[in-house]
Amino acid sequence: MSVQHFLTLLDLDAASLANIIDRAIELKKMQKRGEIYEPLKNRVLGMVFEKSSTRTRVSFETGMIQFGGKAIFLSPRDTQLGRGELIEDSARVLSRMLDVIMIRTFEHEKAETFAEYSQVPIINGLTDLYHPCQLLADVQTYVEHRGSIKGRTICYIGDGNNMCHSYINAARQFDFKLHIATPKGYEPDADILAAAGDRVQLGHDPFAAAEGVDLISTDVWASMGQEEEQVQRIQDFKDFCVTPKLMALAHKDALFMHCLPAHRGEEVDAAVIDGPQSVVWDEAENRLHAQKALLEFLLT
Ligand code: CP
Ligand code: NVA
Repeated sequence: MSVQHFLTLLDLDAASLANIIDRAIELKKMQKRGEIYEPLKNRVLGMVFEKSSTRTRVSFETGMIQFGGKAIFLSPRDTQLGRGELIEDSARVLSRMLDVIMIRTFEHEKAETFAEYSQVPIINGLTDLYHPCQLLADVQTYVEHRGSIKGRTICYIGDGNNMCHSYINAARQFDFKLHIATPKGYEPDADILAAAGDRVQLGHDPFAAAEGVDLISTDVWASMGQEEEQVQRIQDFKDFCVTPKLMALAHKDALFMHCLPAHRGEEVDAAVIDGPQSVVWDEAENRLHAQKALLEFLLT
């Protein structure tokens, strides 16, 4: 039997993803009630981090502890991965000991190779191309605040990056419309965009993209690995800040999301991220609940 991985939102069918969101909401309630639920007793998650992380690391580790299992943090600095041991070999070895592996890396192909050689599920904890776990949390957060996301219109402002690509895939899987506004030259991958058909509209005017939408989401202008482009990007993205003026164009009940970490005064004004429409702290917390639902789905 082939192993079920979670490298992108397209790895699972829409019904399974919908079940994971419902289950995340339920698991959150169970945890708030103080219920002990340990379906992963004695199971071990390996977490390979080639990039920094606060939320992803803590949410996966906490989730495994709450589920009665354990998580091991694997940094390339102190494993043989950092000394050039092949991904293929590392995947073969690690997957003989661990029950599930999360990987955060640069090239998406690395995560794919890891999955190809792994006997256990591989979860994408962010690559340069996708951030699917974040979208589980974002959709959960939307549903908790506003009900079903199906048929809603979401606006993504900023870089055509891993978050943007995962929003495009989420539009397909959760059946919402997506308006994207990026500066010229920072568009999302053309194939990922084309595969989503006409439910996703790409433009370069943030004000047009925000008109009447139910949610505005943004992300940093320079992602991990693009630090040396920071100065140029601040120039190129200067008209793509989510301001109160931009939020005012959205539906009056519209929410604001950001996967975090955020740069106030760059991609978002403090008045927006710290304002009444922002649900970023619920969104961050929901990484825990959504990934617990994902782990349960993949492992039980
Ligand atoms: N949103 C997110 O993935 O945060 P971290 O980089 O802190 O894990
Ligand atoms: N696009 C950002 C997301 C961080 C969670 C990055 O890749 O750095």
